[in-house]
Amino acid sequence: MEYVTTKICQAGQIGIHGNLFGGIMLSWFDEAGAAYAAYLCSTPHLVTVKMDEVVFKKPVRTGDHIRFFGEVYHVGTSSITLALEARRFLFDNGTYELVCSTEITYVRIDEQGKAVPIDEQIRQRLKAKKG
Ligand SMILES: CC(C)(COP(=O)(O)OP(=O)(O)OC[C@H]1O[C@@H](n2cnc3c(N)ncnc32)[C@H](O)[C@@H]1OP(=O)(O)O)[C@@H](O)C(=O)NCCC(=O)NCCS
Repeated sequence: MEYVTTKICQAGQIGIHGNLFGGIMLSWFDEAGAAYAAYLCSTPHLVTVKMDEVVFKKPVRTGDHIRFFGEVYHVGTSSITLALEARRFLFDNGTYELVCSTEITYVRIDEQGKAVPIDEQIRQRLKAKKG
């Protein structure tokens, strides 16, 4: 997987049980995935059409550095599906701990918001990269 971005859990993002509020993690995933999809597809004109099952494996607490990683799961005609992971960075030993994962599908749109094909060369390159 490729590194995408980092978020730091702030005190104001904590829910009533002392953990990061789940909805914040969903928005972090959506933003990280959108940025990565835009980078891969060389266009910012993408919308989220589907977020798959989200598994919250470990609690996130105030001050945690959560690093997002992604890889291409599927390339369609106008859509791209990414596998995404949120990993806590452990400063003590420089390793990571998986805290949450999901898959998100983004669709390339035109000015009217209608689905249009992702550039053919880019699609072929992404498919080749996926293997
Ligand atoms: C995304 C959107 C343009 C797709 O419109 P649509 O009429 O379903 O378009 P199409 O039927 O041509 O499908 C386009 C692509 O979306 C995919 N798609 C549509 N619904 C899907 C679903 N529920 N799950 C996964 N993929 C889906 C199709 O498989 C297709 O992919 P492909 O071209 O790679 O084969 C439309 O649903 C939309 O505008 N949704 C709202 C997006 C939004 O506001 N997101 C939140 C803010 S970013």
